[in-house]
Amino acid sequence: MSRVTVVGTGYVGTVTAVCLAFLDHDVVGLDINRIRAEQLAAGQVPFHEPGLPERLRQGLESGRLSFTWDPATAAGSADVIFLCVGTPTDGSGIPDMSQVEAAVRAIAPHMKPGAVVVSKSTVPAGSGNWVRTMIEEALPDTDGIEFHVVSNPEFLREGSAVEDFLYPDRIVLGGESSGQGTQVVADLYCRLLRQDFAGGRPGYQPQLIRTDLPSAEMVKYAANAFLATKISFANEIANICELVGADARQVLSAIGADSRIGPQFLRHGIGWGGSCFRKDVAALIATGLDYGYGSPILRAIIEVNQGQRVLVLRKLQAALKTLKGRRIAVFGLAFKPDTDDLRDAPSIEIIRKLYAAGAVVSAYDPIVKEVPELDDVPVRIGADAYDAANRADAVVIATEWPHFAALDLRKLREKMKGCLILDGRGIVAEDVAAEAGLIVRGFGW
Ligand code: UDX
Repeated sequence: MSRVTVVGTGYVGTVTAVCLAFLDHDVVGLDINRIRAEQLAAGQVPFHEPGLPERLRQGLESGRLSFTWDPATAAGSADVIFLCVGTPTDGSGIPDMSQVEAAVRAIAPHMKPGAVVVSKSTVPAGSGNWVRTMIEEALPDTDGIEFHVVSNPEFLREGSAVEDFLYPDRIVLGGESSGQGTQVVADLYCRLLRQDFAGGRPGYQPQLIRTDLPSAEMVKYAANAFLATKISFANEIANICELVGADARQVLSAIGADSRIGPQFLRHGIGWGGSCFRKDVAALIATGLDYGYGSPILRAIIEVNQGQRVLVLRKLQAALKTLKGRRIAVFGLAFKPDTDDLRDAPSIEIIRKLYAAGAVVSAYDPIVKEVPELDDVPVRIGADAYDAANRADAVVIATEWPHFAALDLRKLREKMKGCLILDGRGIVAEDVAAEAGLIVRGFGW
């Protein structure tokens, strides 16, 4: 078993540390934020992720998992050091690499010979070489010390991150020409590749894909851009369906049945959100521009997605005419179910637009109870969905929480003043709603 250090205990870092300890490695999570490290060491996960708190506590109890804020303790004995710090985007799309730089500078002086530095942070092509140079610069008097740099992009989805880690479709390892670094990381994942752990799926074999460094770095961007493309494409087709009187639900389900296309990520509605898609597509566009390439498809992906948020307003205007003084209840704040993450959540922009149009807005989310992003907008957060819908002229479904598909629609109707549900996620049964006296309007039909 290997000794592993995970630098950065945000979303990706915590899942990585916890899951590697579950696979029997000795793992130290390092975070410069001492409060965060102490919180995790006390068994508390500071964000919502199903299955993670239990596994964190198991790891701590087994003695294979610990957390610290001291780089020397964390990096000194590590065979493998994972970089899992954030690369947030500035307005221009260029990723801010300052956290990666700080992490590398913190660990480099303590690295032992032969250590492998693995980037899980989403970083532009060429960053692996930059990391190598930074480490070499930090170790001037140990010229010739051997270490390796590997890129191992993560494909974790919020809400199912533990599952995604343990049962991945593929593990991508990009390395230097010697191949030694990638071999160490492949060995680290051997139990995962063999599914040889409690709960491992017999016969299931994740693919191990080895590439060079810049190619692995591109894989994450390209994968996220493609997923975002599929959704934006579905939304564009849905918009045309609506214009010509076709039903996008039938059309998209029929095209998804083509095995070359596949049914996933064709759910249409108010579009994608979250911390990755927007940031990664913008970063790819910025990279292209660096080389004089305009990336027309990537630009359109974002444009279509932004348009879906505006459509919410247009559809409400079409149904209610003026929005001034109308009460609108928004169901779902998180950018998707099973998370409390509000980054680029469509709900936030929609609520802002509704407020700007003069509406009185209330909201409900099964998990999110506070919305600092909307501090300047008076939104009433309901105790439950029915409370949020009290006297509402319309309800907008912004997140596909299963909870909203299982609401008592008669009770909802009784609470509301109006009878309109604008279903931005295609989850309300129209016939049941009609029996309850509600009218459902959707996207693409
Ligand atoms: C995504 C990638 O899936 C993951 O591989 C990567 O590591 C990080 O980015 P995540 O942001 O957690 O993961 O969410 P995901 O499940 O991909 O959904 C993103 C957004 O797209 C959500 O807002 C979701 O509601 C929306 N979506 C998803 C659709 O609108 N339609 C779909 O068909 C699928």
